[in-house]
Amino acid sequence: MIAVLSACSGSSSSSADTGHTHHQSTTSSDSSLTQTDAATATSGHTMSHGDMSNMAAPEGSQSTTPNSITTDQQIVNGKEVTLTAQSSYLEVEKGKYLPVWTFNNSVPGPQIEVTEGDIVTVHLKNKLDVPVSIHFHGVVLPNDMDGVPGVTQDAVEPGQTFTYTFQALHAGTYWYHSHQDSLNQIGRGLYGTFVVHPKQPSTADVDRTFVLDEWNDPNTHPANTESNTAALNSNMGAYNLYTINGRSGDQIDPLYVNNGQHVRLRFVNAGNMTQLLYIPLSSYTVVSTDGEEIYQPQTLNKGLLRIAPGERYDLAFTATDNGVAPIGAVGDSDFARSMRLPIVVSDRGQQPNQQQVIDEVKRQQQNLTAANVSRWSELDLMNYGQPTASTFTLNQKYDRNYDLKLSMGVSDGKMTYTINDESYDHLKALTVKTGDTVHITLSAPSGNEDHPMHLHGHVFQVLSRNGKAASGAPVWKDTLNVRPGETYEIALLANNPGNWMLHCHELHHASMGMMIDFNYEDFQTSYQPDTKVDNISE
Ligand code: C2O
Ligand code: CU
Repeated sequence: MIAVLSACSGSSSSSADTGHTHHQSTTSSDSSLTQTDAATATSGHTMSHGDMSNMAAPEGSQSTTPNSITTDQQIVNGKEVTLTAQSSYLEVEKGKYLPVWTFNNSVPGPQIEVTEGDIVTVHLKNKLDVPVSIHFHGVVLPNDMDGVPGVTQDAVEPGQTFTYTFQALHAGTYWYHSHQDSLNQIGRGLYGTFVVHPKQPSTADVDRTFVLDEWNDPNTHPANTESNTAALNSNMGAYNLYTINGRSGDQIDPLYVNNGQHVRLRFVNAGNMTQLLYIPLSSYTVVSTDGEEIYQPQTLNKGLLRIAPGERYDLAFTATDNGVAPIGAVGDSDFARSMRLPIVVSDRGQQPNQQQVIDEVKRQQQNLTAANVSRWSELDLMNYGQPTASTFTLNQKYDRNYDLKLSMGVSDGKMTYTINDESYDHLKALTVKTGDTVHITLSAPSGNEDHPMHLHGHVFQVLSRNGKAASGAPVWKDTLNVRPGETYEIALLANNPGNWMLHCHELHHASMGMMIDFNYEDFQTSYQPDTKVDNISE
């Protein structure tokens, strides 16, 4: 067992530390990493992030344990939480450490769980030596709590704190992440999950969240640092290590459930790559996406689920068949095959041990090849669940109509990602006023990349794809993956005054220009950016 040392000395009096926290009861026996006594932690260990050479993997990282590594992710039940941004190392595979930036020394950061209607207070403490912020992705909240540096607040400087407070209005699966220099900061691990439970207790016996991400393994590729962002930008497929909850391959904790239990799995994609997962369950439903319940979803049998950056999907099933079912990324590369989550169903007290599970997963993966699973049918939200009355229709009149074409271009000799052939710096804001109905067409006529477009502060209804009306349950999203050649029509009600952002959540694309402001004409911000702060809104 590896000793776990905290990256930062001193005990904070945050409710995240002192409040009720627990790990899910179903974690494997192997996952019982414990936090050592604060007294034995290295005192005041900090890394210099200005010097990127310090961010390289520890010398001889295959055999050496760095002096700070992340702890298991915690569940924080509490309306008041402290999130401390701090550096650490993440043990993605046995003996393999990645330098990371964390909230509360884990990647993902703690899962914050509250109940619909709760007032949530999150104190952000910055112990890194770069400014950071927190954006609550998908959460409809007041504009000044949106966490976008230079737009809604100044980035929180090293040593400083900032308190976010808002009411959790809507049950669902969300996540939070830094919105300062996000390609870099989310890429290093500054994110966590946020689950809002409905007021009436859910029927799930097991309710777990799984965050997908991808990294550069520094042992085969240079680390994902600013110094080689250019290299990354010209080769966005350079990721060669896929993780679920910060672990890869055999290090991923199987999910143990008892036969008969009702299970809810919440998937969040915190990475920059769209992941296509195979779900080898014989009877499951997709109950929710982006925090929005799907009306009367059909039961599925062995299907594919595509999850783009920023999106969330919640699956539900009742455990009836004893055995191991690995949910995993479609693909035959070692890194795709190491992104798999074994779902282990057994009678109470009869769980196989972790090695038996690993062996069984390996055996099954021989048949779960890309060629074999690609015959399974992929969930299509535009044609899933039952139609029912909803807010917007295709043939109504809208107060505002916008047409956004997503593509690439070159400006000053540099590659850019564009909206209507302009990049962020040159784009005029989309404007609305409170009460407007807004219709937006999003299209990607050229190129071969996904553009998961995310609107802050609102949810929108997806009306059509490629001219064909949605024919299943009404589709509500905050992040919509526009794939090559696709055109979508979406609609929303402008009911949350503020200055918001609409951007691609492939963050290379956002940082290279695929971003636009979404501003209310009848909103006057009281925020004045401090020019001394290096605010990087994307
Ligand atoms: Cu998840 Cu503008 O972000
Ligand atoms: Cu994009």
